[in-house]
Amino acid sequence: MQYSSLAQVLFLILAAILVVSEAATEFECPSTVALAFNEAHHYKDVDYDSATGSSINGSFWTDSNTMETLHLVMLQTGRSDFDGLADNSFLGRNALIPFTDWETFTGPFIDDAGWAVLALWTMADYKATHHQQNVDDFLTAAATVYDLIASNWDDTCGGGVWWTVDHTYKNAITNELFLTLSAQGYLRFKNDTYLENAKKAWAWIEGSGMRNAQGLYNDGLVFGTCVNNGETTWTYNQGVVLSGLGALYAATGNETLVSEAEITIDATIRNLTVNGILKESCDDVVLEGTPCDSDQQIFKGIWLKHLQYFLTFVHPTHPELVEKYQAFIGSQSEAVLRFATDPQLDIGSVWYGVDAGGSVFSVQSLASGIMAHAANAEYGPCL
Ligand SMILES: *[C@@H]1O[C@H](CO)[C@@H](O)[C@H](O)[C@H]1NC(C)=O
Ligand SMILES: *[C@@H]1O[C@H](CO)[C@@H](O)[C@H](O)[C@H]1NC(C)=O
Ligand SMILES: *[C@@H]1O[C@H](CO)[C@@H](O)[C@H](O)[C@H]1NC(C)=O
Ligand SMILES: *[C@@H]1O[C@H](CO)[C@@H](O)[C@H](O)[C@H]1NC(C)=O
Repeated sequence: MQYSSLAQVLFLILAAILVVSEAATEFECPSTVALAFNEAHHYKDVDYDSATGSSINGSFWTDSNTMETLHLVMLQTGRSDFDGLADNSFLGRNALIPFTDWETFTGPFIDDAGWAVLALWTMADYKATHHQQNVDDFLTAAATVYDLIASNWDDTCGGGVWWTVDHTYKNAITNELFLTLSAQGYLRFKNDTYLENAKKAWAWIEGSGMRNAQGLYNDGLVFGTCVNNGETTWTYNQGVVLSGLGALYAATGNETLVSEAEITIDATIRNLTVNGILKESCDDVVLEGTPCDSDQQIFKGIWLKHLQYFLTFVHPTHPELVEKYQAFIGSQSEAVLRFATDPQLDIGSVWYGVDAGGSVFSVQSLASGIMAHAANAEYGPCL
């Protein structure tokens, strides 16, 4: 009797611990979820052309990010608002065709190929989760595109994948994508090639000199000399590396990878913000002269999406990091709502203050804002 009641008490304690830790990850705040879906529906209703499966006025790589985010936000909430979107999307419909030539499809930019893999995986996760659908076609497409990326690695500058197929630039974003795809690919498929590539990619990034004294990644390396080119520390270059480090940590348990990620997160919060809100250098039109271009308009959201992924990979062993960054994540979403959102629900590119003329309203800046709301729904405070 005594033994069984002790066992019962232990079981209840264990169950309580499990419930608490589940709650920390699975609770989705109604108000921030509503915000994310309002904007996601606005995108789908106004900016998505279901005839082509593409955004009106969009581009292939930013659309990949948008498709990834719309499926991510459904996965994290268990909702199915955009059912059928994966197969309808330009990327998805090509994945369903067995003879798609992925080399032509993804084009000369190796980083664009990387975003496509992330979108294919997230759409596959949605289809598998909600419909128990066979997603082999999506996964086969993703594997083919991944191999194309990997084939652009060589020994110039000691390693790294090239930015484009003409092999003239080694940069941060393409290699951060290769890191995150390789580490996440290993977690998904337990294929050692992916793990070896992830370790190789991180060792190369770490030794490349692309991270500056402030802890921020510059854009890339000078062709020929392979030194840090000192070019813009775009927010997305501080973001994609985080999901890569988080996934490689989940695969290896190497704690240094978490500290390396924290250095970059803290440097971003310290150096790439105004009043605690992310600011791309081109957001300041007075200082820069021209506003952010259509690519740059989506970068801040990508930073938040990959911080979200980082926390998903590390929070089981590092719940304190969710607490550490929760308020910051919440402030970004709040600023998007307060300073960047117009009465039509369009979202401009400038988040850090009232639009002083430099905020561009585009499908890319809209997607960026949705990413901020999605990260907030997952890890922000619930007000
Ligand atoms: C696309 O761009 C054109 C030209 O700038 C503009 O007139 C149109 O309203 C845009 N459409 C959407 C849905 O943003
Ligand atoms: C592991 O991944 C590599 C690279 O994509 C691929 O060539 C290989 O066939 C995969 N191995 C298995 C067992 O699936
Ligand atoms: C852990 O990661 C750090 C940083 O990249 C690296 O220097 C170290 O060798 C790794 N440790 C192991 C056991 O692989
Ligand atoms: C970044 O932060 C460091 C430490 O606070 C500071 O010394 C440096 O001037 C900052 N750089 C920029 C570009 O804000």
